[in-house]
Amino acid sequence: MSNSQTLLVTGGAGFIGGNFVRLLLATEPDVRIVNLDALTYAGNLASIRDCLEQRHHTFVRGDIANAELVRHLLQGHKITGIINFAAESHVDRSITGPKVFIDTNVGGTLNLLWNARECGVKRFLQVSTDEVYGSLGDSGYFREDTPISPNSPYSASKASADHLVQAFHHTYGLDTVITRCSNNYGAWQFPEKMIPLMIRNAMADKPLPVYGDGLNVRDWLHVLDHCRAIWTAFSKGRAGQVYNVGGNSEKTNLDVVHTILRGLGKPDSLISFVKDRPGHDRRYAIDAGKIRRELGWEPQMKFESGIRDTIAWYQANRAWMDEVTSGDYQKYYDQMYGKRGQA
Ligand code: NAD
Ligand code: TYD
Repeated sequence: MSNSQTLLVTGGAGFIGGNFVRLLLATEPDVRIVNLDALTYAGNLASIRDCLEQRHHTFVRGDIANAELVRHLLQGHKITGIINFAAESHVDRSITGPKVFIDTNVGGTLNLLWNARECGVKRFLQVSTDEVYGSLGDSGYFREDTPISPNSPYSASKASADHLVQAFHHTYGLDTVITRCSNNYGAWQFPEKMIPLMIRNAMADKPLPVYGDGLNVRDWLHVLDHCRAIWTAFSKGRAGQVYNVGGNSEKTNLDVVHTILRGLGKPDSLISFVKDRPGHDRRYAIDAGKIRRELGWEPQMKFESGIRDTIAWYQANRAWMDEVTSGDYQKYYDQMYGKRGQA
């Protein structure tokens, strides 16, 4: 595809979307971005303040499920491609309140797909997750042909969206690509997710709430590696295909927590085992061979240096952390973790 294009990037004030917008503005001078984000609790203009004044970036506050708005943006800006990051993204919140996950992740994606087709958008990339495959035992890897078997309301909503994306390709011939990535870490991640939550608590000498036995395994990937993979898949991927994206960096949650404590010079006594997440997936691990072989993408960041940089970033950006946690965050934290108690 030619590089001269105008993209609708949704969810570009969130963690991965914001990193993606910044990366593209810095590296792709021919790409214009219309950034559509509802600014939920997870979306913050403070995370993309440096992007707001840039010539090739237009920010629009709005809902991806709003048909009129989406059509107006696609036509008005002559959008050539859509990259859909917008989502409710936190498993724990999906357990206590699943409806908004269906509204945004399923209904919002359907609205984008429908209007993409109506308005002749050339390519639609859906940013998905390895969680659609369910959970692994001690061995094996998720491949693109692993059956979809989601376990949480979050992953069920993302799986539904993936099915709709595939259906639009098969039924209407829409040019679609799906990327399914493992857990991300890095700068600007909202501190409800494990890594920034643990860093924030450790910095304040507060308990680090580890669910269950702490031996659940996640395959960690630096957010900038994920952003590069998405751009590679969007630019070079084959229509109708799924590409798994992973860091080849499996860690237990306890390993990660120990690394954070060591990095901050804090004692292990801050670790507090709390009641497990209901339906907690045991292990995720990605086989990213297809995107490596077909498109030449590989992770560039090692977890050990990536997590060091990430800890340093949170230490240097306390003002951002205070800003994004100043609203309902404390109420959320007290409700979510008050219930769990000590294990
Ligand atoms: P995030 O929660 O940090 O950001 C989501 C963004 O979407 C926020 O800016 C929010 O305001 C916006 N949003 C929510 N509902 C919206 C709506 N109805 N209309 C418009 N905007 C809306 O999430 P993230 O971690 O950046 O994840 C981005 C995408 O990547 C999601 O689709 C997620 O499923 C996927 N993903 C995340 C990870 C991860 O580890 N974080 C891994 C794999 C895939
Ligand atoms: P999370 O960051 O919520 O990502 P996901 O559930 O999408 O993988 O959680 C990562 C892992 O960390 C997961 O196994 C749950 C665990 N976890 C804790 O042990 N304590 C916490 O406070 C949180 C938020 C997560």
